[in-house]
Amino acid sequence: MAVHNLEPTGFERVGDDALESKVLAPLYYTDPRAFEIEKRDVFQKAWLYACHENQVANAGDQLPVEAGGQPLVVLRDRDGEVRAFFNVCAHRGMTVVGKPTCANTLKCPYHGWVYDLSGRLVAARNTGHLDDFDGQGFALKEVRVARHQGLVFVNFDPEAPALADTIGPVFDDISDLGLDPARFHLGKVVDYPVETNWKIAIDNYVECYHCPVAHPGIEKFFEYEKTFADVQDWGVLAGGPPDTETLAVYKRACEANGWPLVAETRYSWAWPNIMYLLGWAPRPHLMVWTIEPVAHDRIVFRHNYFFYDVDPDAEQLAFIHAIDKVQQEDNPILEGVWQGMNSLGFGGQGTYVINDADTYQTERGVWQFHHRLQQIYDRAGM
Ligand code: FES
Ligand SMILES: [Fe+2]
Repeated sequence: MAVHNLEPTGFERVGDDALESKVLAPLYYTDPRAFEIEKRDVFQKAWLYACHENQVANAGDQLPVEAGGQPLVVLRDRDGEVRAFFNVCAHRGMTVVGKPTCANTLKCPYHGWVYDLSGRLVAARNTGHLDDFDGQGFALKEVRVARHQGLVFVNFDPEAPALADTIGPVFDDISDLGLDPARFHLGKVVDYPVETNWKIAIDNYVECYHCPVAHPGIEKFFEYEKTFADVQDWGVLAGGPPDTETLAVYKRACEANGWPLVAETRYSWAWPNIMYLLGWAPRPHLMVWTIEPVAHDRIVFRHNYFFYDVDPDAEQLAFIHAIDKVQQEDNPILEGVWQGMNSLGFGGQGTYVINDADTYQTERGVWQFHHRLQQIYDRAGM
């Protein structure tokens, strides 16, 4: 893709030394051309979260999902394999699967073309009289799938390295902490449409420098001094124990129910848009949050709540309420930063507040995210 060179002066590129570097320049957020580069070089090359494999537990289960802005259908075929296809009819592009279902075939609701669970077109109404109609040319387009810790990931790039080589250890916590990934079940999904650039939402997630100011009350969930954050190219592995009182409640619940004790909360991020939270409730608890980039100025922030063995009870609903409160505190920030970035009044490039001794509050993760993006823009000529 040809990208016009932007004004060569007036901003600094993100440097190799976080302490010396200015933050990512605002034009990478506000210029729609940056979003075009990101669609191609970030979202169409990275492994993206799709769903939990329990959501397609049985042969024939079909689940429409969105990943990286693309409509997909994840299904389980007759051999028990989890597969994913673009949820786009080869006839004239209609969405084939509108809601979760279980069937041997996928039938397009527009003109009724029918596909089997391997994506092959098996019936196309009123085409018998067409001389050169070849159904083989009209399969659903398949997408690469990888399963890890009970979760299903997709990648649009056939050349992309394997998931295990790119995701880092973020999700390994699930089994490392003694949990069985198969026992997590999706209990609730909450979507938050936000008018912002998707990177602003990641920037916000990978630092907790803002937490004591923007989230009064959040401290009770963490022992500040005991938190850690491992910042790497694949993302940030972060976590820490809750306060002693919360931990005691949690411990009692785990003992009573025979659940392994997850004594630490993990709240990590994996490139590019996968956020992950484990623990932090009076029972094993998993959240996968994704940011769906709708346009350069719009996202859907999606919370997927998974519960261990059982349906949400009052405690878990209270937990969802607490998370919702944090998100409601963050959303005006995400929109406020977006407005500021578009303002003539914004000087443009602050510095990273790096403090490696205080992993809870440092902005090193933001630098890492920006640094990786800067290399992508550089390669694309922007
Ligand atoms: S678009 Fe699907 S059958 Fe026509
Ligand atoms: Fe926040």
